[in-house]
Amino acid sequence: MCSAPDTSAAVKPAPADLPRRRFVNILLGTGLLASAASFLYPVLRYLVPPKLPDLGGDAVLAARLSEMKPNTAKTFRFGTRPGLLVETSAGEYRAMSATCTHLGCTVQYRPDLREIWCACHNGMYDLNGRNISGPPPRPLEAFEVQVRGDEIFVRRKQEA
Ligand code: FES
Repeated sequence: MCSAPDTSAAVKPAPADLPRRRFVNILLGTGLLASAASFLYPVLRYLVPPKLPDLGGDAVLAARLSEMKPNTAKTFRFGTRPGLLVETSAGEYRAMSATCTHLGCTVQYRPDLREIWCACHNGMYDLNGRNISGPPPRPLEAFEVQVRGDEIFVRRKQEA
């Protein structure tokens, strides 16, 4: 008597293969989801930009009072460009564009000199943003500062 070989055992995966296959499927699925998210997130951020506080005009929150102390500065975002908020040694606030008027580098406050310095070509500005030495051809754009409660807002100076 001749019997046909049992083929069902050859096709059926061994029980030890199932967790491995499931692991590989989960790994591939997670990778595809992560790839899709990394492509879609920037597109969504472009289409739906983050809301900026509407303070009337172009005022932006530059800092909180608790972040500042005399003879320090903070760089903040003013639209698409950087701004620089300085608290002088006397406790006054000054704000200006942080984009150097020479070739567009970002300037910084030098507490040791009490001046604003551009590291690219050693340009110097005073605390009113006036170019005082080095290659910068023009002053930095000065901004208007308003303190409301604990917050320091900066806006473009209104033309008279
Ligand atoms: S870019 Fe600032 S001094 Fe040249």
